[in-house]
Amino acid sequence: MRFEERQILLKNGALCTLRPTTSEYAQEMIDYMRQTAAETPFLLRNPDEVRFTLEKERELLDYIYGDEHSVMMLALVDGKVAGNSSINGMGEKRRVWHRCSLAIALTKEYWGLGIGTAMIGYLAELAKQIGYEQMELEVVDGNDRAKALYEKCGFVETGRHINAMKYDDGTYRDEILMYKSLRE
Ligand SMILES: CC(C)(COP(=O)(O)OP(=O)(O)OC[C@H]1O[C@@H](n2cnc3c(N)ncnc32)[C@H](O)[C@@H]1OP(=O)(O)O)[C@@H](O)C(=O)NCCC(=O)NCCS
Repeated sequence: MRFEERQILLKNGALCTLRPTTSEYAQEMIDYMRQTAAETPFLLRNPDEVRFTLEKERELLDYIYGDEHSVMMLALVDGKVAGNSSINGMGEKRRVWHRCSLAIALTKEYWGLGIGTAMIGYLAELAKQIGYEQMELEVVDGNDRAKALYEKCGFVETGRHINAMKYDDGTYRDEILMYKSLRE
């Protein structure tokens, strides 16, 4: 959906712009997905599994921009993609219309500067505007920075998917389920 651009001041004094992820950023988004997949083991995709074509990525970004129930938010620093985040509904059925899921990833260079905190704060405002009553997410066990960020933003742990991730070396990790109410 469309939303207002917002400027935030980072812990290192740089300015960061939060804005909709529009299709003009399709190539940067593909590059960003490959980079983040290589920089952390805590995302779903391996780097070789980022297979979006430019055309498909453009289509997807145009669709999300026009969808009143989804948000895709880009973080830019000096015109460079520092990260992306999103909220999506849980499906068509009325009984889940009140729930949305949140996803976020930044490139490593921009970790720890406050971008995650600002993005989740803004996404929570937009989610309330849309009419969602709660946000949900999964975080891989061991991703302490992400878990700390979510707890700081008001998420609480509600359960686990045991062995949800299986890595190429044969090891497993659980996913921790988290929830934040938007009702207050
Ligand atoms: C997880 C991620 C989104 C966090 O965003 P960020 O901009 O780095 O987070 P912020 O700087 O806003 O805040 C992180 C908080 O966690 C704290 N923190 C950082 N590392 C920590 C650690 N190892 N253990 C506990 N707390 C930690 C910080 O102190 C900070 O809190 P503070 O601002 O009160 O000091 C980002 O690091 C990232 O994209 N990581 C890789 C992809 C990923 O894991 N995505 C989440 C998938 S569920």
